[in-house]
Amino acid sequence: MDLGLGGAAVLVSGGTKGMGRAAAECFAGEGARVAVLGRTPAALEATAQALRERGAADVVELPADLTDRGSVEDAFALVEQRWGELNVLVNAAGPVDVGIKRFEQLDDTEWQATFDIGTMSAVRCVRAALPLLRRADWARIVNVSAHSTKRQSPDIVAYTAAKAALTSLSKNLSLSLAPEGILVNTVSPGSFNSEGMKQYLRDLPPERNADPDDLNDVMRIMAEDFGHPAHLLRAGDPAEIGPVIAFVGSPLNSYMTGADVNVDGGSDFT
Ligand SMILES: NC(=O)c1ccc[n+]([C@@H]2O[C@H](COP(=O)([O-])OP(=O)(O)OC[C@H]3O[C@@H](n4cnc5c(N)ncnc54)[C@H](OP(=O)(O)O)[C@@H]3O)[C@@H](O)[C@H]2O)c1
Repeated sequence: MDLGLGGAAVLVSGGTKGMGRAAAECFAGEGARVAVLGRTPAALEATAQALRERGAADVVELPADLTDRGSVEDAFALVEQRWGELNVLVNAAGPVDVGIKRFEQLDDTEWQATFDIGTMSAVRCVRAALPLLRRADWARIVNVSAHSTKRQSPDIVAYTAAKAALTSLSKNLSLSLAPEGILVNTVSPGSFNSEGMKQYLRDLPPERNADPDDLNDVMRIMAEDFGHPAHLLRAGDPAEIGPVIAFVGSPLNSYMTGADVNVDGGSDFT
């Protein structure tokens, strides 16, 4: 199946690690031009090398901090200079480690920081991307939200609220951008063994017996700490969600917009 991504101009925020990286690799494998955005130069460099090896038509490294509006604008200015247009924007940065607390433990600063990366990072990217998306023959926006927006967990109340705002924003944008043919969707992951997730497990006390590379252990810890396990009883590997993001962001997806796609190993969510 040809996703129609050959030569497409794609930007993946948070594309250097975890699910964003997996998605970037899929776009590269389809022969797209891929820009990856993250804060760490070494991770950008290593990702760029991997994307070239996978067949990307062009690769751009965008060192930027999504919590800094000027930094985001500078990154998109580089893309404009290089490509002049953008077909696909994937917002996959995160996770929001400041938001992993209960309501009574969070102060205003932590709420604001959580919304800054969980919601406003995507707002800034969409705003900066829109002129470039409008110049392209076809355009897609894929926002990576979270299954926790559907399964409430009191231990991640701020994170969940920020992601719920992102899902709502995406739905709203799907309506306002439909007349221009710009399709906007969210992909909502369950528990995935990303870099951020591995770090969460590494930081646990040894008595939790959590192996960050074991998908069953990841699922067990997520179920113990935040709620019910997935039907498949294991966490996902980022390589299992990258292709979903690539499809949703491709021209082969021509009739799905405003959708929230669960990739969660099975749940009762609609
Ligand atoms: N893992 C899960 O189980 C899970 C579940 C549901 C939803 N999600 C969501 O899925 C998305 C991807 O998560 P992940 O777990 O795959 O992430 P990850 O492995 O922790 O990678 C996060 C990526 O975002 C970048 N990033 C973080 N903060 C940034 C900032 N301020 N500015 C620019 N880049 C930034 C990181 O690069 P630098 O650190 O170098 O900047 C990295 O490329 C996130 O939105 C997360 O909330 C994850």
